[in-house]
Amino acid sequence: SENIYILGIESSCDDTAAAIIHNGKKLSNVVANQQIHKEYGGVVPELASRAHQQNIVPVVQQAIAKANIDKKQLSAIAFTRGPGLMGSLLVGTSFAKSLSLGLGIPLIEVNHMQAHILAHFIDEEGYSQPNFPFLAMTISGGHTQIVKVNDHFDMEVIGETIDDAVGEAYDKSGKILGLPYPAGPFIDKLAQKGNPKAFPFPKPQVKGLDFSFSGLKTAILYFVQKNEKENPNFIKENLEDICASIQHTIVNILMDKLKKASKKTGIKEIAIGGGVSANSGIRKALMEGEKKYGWTAYIPKFEYTTDNAAMIAIVGYLKYLNDDFADHDIAANARVKI
Ligand code: KG4
Ligand code: ZN
Repeated sequence: SENIYILGIESSCDDTAAAIIHNGKKLSNVVANQQIHKEYGGVVPELASRAHQQNIVPVVQQAIAKANIDKKQLSAIAFTRGPGLMGSLLVGTSFAKSLSLGLGIPLIEVNHMQAHILAHFIDEEGYSQPNFPFLAMTISGGHTQIVKVNDHFDMEVIGETIDDAVGEAYDKSGKILGLPYPAGPFIDKLAQKGNPKAFPFPKPQVKGLDFSFSGLKTAILYFVQKNEKENPNFIKENLEDICASIQHTIVNILMDKLKKASKKTGIKEIAIGGGVSANSGIRKALMEGEKKYGWTAYIPKFEYTTDNAAMIAIVGYLKYLNDDFADHDIAANARVKI
């Protein structure tokens, strides 16, 4: 049988990543996190592109070395075309094009949001792959969507956020609480020691399968300001309970829409993807969904939740099998849709 080696390159936001997938299995998965944004409390696009420029060559070299292959064995190069920050995307796109020309191998364009979903098709021991059709909820710092996945490349967005993404809700709430950026993992960790019912935050009323998270952030801001007036140490003294209450509210919002989507479509194969799918609360709620609603839940391995290039390479592999290649005049697209 044929040996297909795909190099995946991801540079859509603030992680420079490269990975090798061999016939659907991961050989290496390297990510360089950009620490520079921490001091600004969010991603600074200009700094992100510069850091990608510095990181991309060493990251690709490491991915090839860790896979223990020679670059001459590569079958194709897959890269993130979008969505993401334009300056960041340009670095990965230009590099992928050049390397594809230099090695004389095909180029494959990948949609970052499709990749968060198709990461479930990486051949991993102990993980099974969803059956079509399935529902995928992509929850990240930039996106919140419910997608009906009819086939690998036949996807329909059936619900999405009308304002902030869920990861943004975590990060902005964390900022109000004085937590470092990105705050999602910190809130998650603190939440596990707190009382989720300590402080009830309002749930937004959004119709259908759409989401809204901007109201929650405002509610938390007013709640903190009001309580700090009476007790300047309010946050410090109640941090675990506040985090648990925020997490409880967010998980409820996500689960409500997922339940609705499952009911509406009759689909009980449910997958999650994106940075927020690392969250312990949503993972637990999904596992409970298996018992409560007869779902089969697909939760990605931690290394495939936040931005990574293995998910880009697996899409590359699936497209390679379909002979779906890109031309060399292809341009990055910051707003490309699923
Ligand atoms: O998918 P990702 O790496 O980048 C985007 O494409 O946005 O997602 C990053 C987001 C951040 O907002 C971060 O706070 C959030 O994922 N995140 C979490 C957790 N781990 C990462 N949010 C809640 N709980 C977590 N454990
Ligand atoms: Zn992402």
